[in-house]
Amino acid sequence: MNGKTKGNACAGCALSARREFMADTLGIAAGVLVVLGAPSSLAAFATGDILGEVSGHTVSYPIPAADGTQIDRANQVILVRWQGTAYAFALSCPHQNQALRWIEKDARFQCPKHKSRYTPDGTFISGRATRGLDRYAVTRAENEIVVDLATLHEQTADPSVWNAAKLTLT
Ligand code: FES
Repeated sequence: MNGKTKGNACAGCALSARREFMADTLGIAAGVLVVLGAPSSLAAFATGDILGEVSGHTVSYPIPAADGTQIDRANQVILVRWQGTAYAFALSCPHQNQALRWIEKDARFQCPKHKSRYTPDGTFISGRATRGLDRYAVTRAENEIVVDLATLHEQTADPSVWNAAKLTLT
């Protein structure tokens, strides 16, 4: 299997520690934004928070009605609907795990740490990162998108699997 194994067997592993770090970082960032006043793009991003329904190694979300991004902080997942296709990304930047931001006016993701930029489908544009956003496999179950959290797919480790980690919405 190409990718990082996650789930119950991962308790206490580096990825779990990373998720805890990201949750702490997001909590601090949210507090700072409340105090300073968030720019409109970040405020719009924050209103896209979602809570997924976890079942085993999967988490499910209602299919978004329109293009946009939503974040599930509990599971560190970014859910995107973009031009008829759905994607699920890890929230952290593939360079050094900083939580990513959605820049509404530019319709792209940007890392606040070293400014790597990514298109809505996770394609790397520029910056210090060396690959696109890490993706989870996604499937459809009636009116929901099911994200398989068991394996995180890195573009450089297996480009064909990474490319296939998306869902065409009709
Ligand atoms: S941590 Fe995101 S570009 Fe370095």
